[in-house]
Amino acid sequence: MEALRAEHLDKRYGADETEVWALRDIGLVLRAGEIVALLGPSGAGKSTLIKVLGLVTRADHGDLWMNGERVLDDGAPVADVGELRRSHLGFVFQKANLIPFLSARQNVEIACEIGERFAPRARADELLDYLGVGHRGDALPNTLSGGEQQRVAIARALANAPSLILADEPTAALDKERGRAVMELFRRVAHEQGTAVRVVTHDHR
Ligand SMILES: Nc1ncnc2c1ncn2[C@@H]1O[C@H](COP(=O)(O)OP(=O)(O)O)[C@@H](O)[C@H]1O
Ligand SMILES: [Mg+2]
Repeated sequence: MEALRAEHLDKRYGADETEVWALRDIGLVLRAGEIVALLGPSGAGKSTLIKVLGLVTRADHGDLWMNGERVLDDGAPVADVGELRRSHLGFVFQKANLIPFLSARQNVEIACEIGERFAPRARADELLDYLGVGHRGDALPNTLSGGEQQRVAIARALANAPSLILADEPTAALDKERGRAVMELFRRVAHEQGTAVRVVTHDHR
């Protein structure tokens, strides 16, 4: 099944002398359980693409489908994008951006509460275990290593069993080994949970 199909996406910032075409006529397909990395130098438009696919930024033009459902028609939303973001999409960024005064477990629970699909406590513990940080559930984010924080962020992204995870430079703040471990986790998530994963990065590893 297609988790994502995009056709003819355009996104321009500014106008006249300041005009930048961040995306021009972008098309892509991502199937369930598939992991795809998109490589490109700084300024290439990777973050813009993640934000447009994640329904965070409006495209100027283009068509988008998620799980076969039409989402954008020539840039205009034709579905409940808030509901799609909550129920179909998970995001991971360069920085984990965990809520600093909540424990690792509570950071995942709060996402479960928003999604209303799973019992938060049980789901958070299951995901933290799955990602190898179950023993750190009570820890506050600033007592976790960068790699552990990113695992908690991936658990949070998985909280509502999204069909698609969008990751923007998820390994950029990690050393080589931890970066590799995070990519390995994404591969596992894609294969075992059937979640499609799209990673944009300038990290060739
Ligand atoms: N909010 C914005 N306003 C104006 N220009 C932007 C904005 N965001 C990104 N750009 C420009 O769009 C281009 C693509 O940026 P971006 O998507 O962040 O690329 P990447 O993530 O590949 O580094 C760059 O030229 C950048 O300066
Ligand atoms: Mg970027």
